[in-house]
Amino acid sequence: MTDKINDLIARVEAFSSRSAAEIEEFRVKMLGKKGVVTEMMEEFKTVAPELKRELGQRLNELKTKAMQRVNDLKAEAQAAGVGAKTAAIDDMTRPGTAAAEPLGSRHPISLVRNEIVGIFARLGYTVAEGPEIEDDWHVFTALNFAPEHPARDMQDTFFIEKNPDVLLRTHTSSIQVRTMQTQKPPIRVVCPGRVFRNEAISYRAHCIFHQVEGLYIDEGVSFADMKQTLLYFAREMFGEETKIRLRPSYFPFTEPSAEMDVSCNLCGGKGCPVCKGTGWLEIMGCGMVDPNVLEECGIDNKKYTGFAFGMGVERIAMLRYGVGDLRLYFENDVRFLHQFDSAV
Ligand code: DAH
Repeated sequence: MTDKINDLIARVEAFSSRSAAEIEEFRVKMLGKKGVVTEMMEEFKTVAPELKRELGQRLNELKTKAMQRVNDLKAEAQAAGVGAKTAAIDDMTRPGTAAAEPLGSRHPISLVRNEIVGIFARLGYTVAEGPEIEDDWHVFTALNFAPEHPARDMQDTFFIEKNPDVLLRTHTSSIQVRTMQTQKPPIRVVCPGRVFRNEAISYRAHCIFHQVEGLYIDEGVSFADMKQTLLYFAREMFGEETKIRLRPSYFPFTEPSAEMDVSCNLCGGKGCPVCKGTGWLEIMGCGMVDPNVLEECGIDNKKYTGFAFGMGVERIAMLRYGVGDLRLYFENDVRFLHQFDSAV
């Protein structure tokens, strides 16, 4: 029996492994209920009394050594595992895991606004901005709105605390006014911004929406210049084949005024449900800046002329992306927004 114990102690000392499964297997074989040590304990019961003392000590030694070895190996294996992970994180040269980090996307309104602004920037226009909370003069009076014009009514305009002189701008044309007051011609600006109107919310109307306004003032600016500028814009925005047409209209701040249509980019002008069978889509208002407006804003209307235009960003986005319900732009549902992933 002594030989057997010595042999087992040698085996314990020789055993080595980094695998948790192998170490556990070794533990069960040595120290488990049916393991070698238990077996030896049984055998020990039958040993002659005069040998018990010495053999008992050796047997205990075997048991302690086996337990110690298992614990040491387990600790080593664990340390090696943690070490490997830490080394992986510390290695800054490893390729990144971009797919694991979801990237955001730009809002379709921002994409289209940037595109509109980008097109005019290529023609030399700069961006001008103005406040969303405005006064009557910048939104209406300076733009030649008659005192009794319905836009001044509470039904159409949001007034702040019922003060008739503090209101949310109903159009970005107020930025034209601010630009004319602070800059000298030649003026060439586009003015993107949010506007507010007291409208019931539906698929085709919202109380908040976005516009881009444009203004060009210089000596000798003509209606033909406006037409060519807007044709360039339409082609950049909707494609080379796009045609435009101008229909006479009325705005207090332009004379003459027009509404501009583009040929329907879905049916190519043949007529479809989006263009209601007409082949044309209305996209903006425009016209020659009314001399009264120039005068009111401090610009010499004998020397200078100019044109202005204004368009709704939601409308253009709808035509670009085929989104028929305006409300989707404001709900911030990520499933909707992620469809517009883009680097622009
Ligand atoms: N301000 C107009 C609106 O909100 C749009 C507009 C029309 C702007 C004609 C202009 C313009 O500058 O010339 O409906």
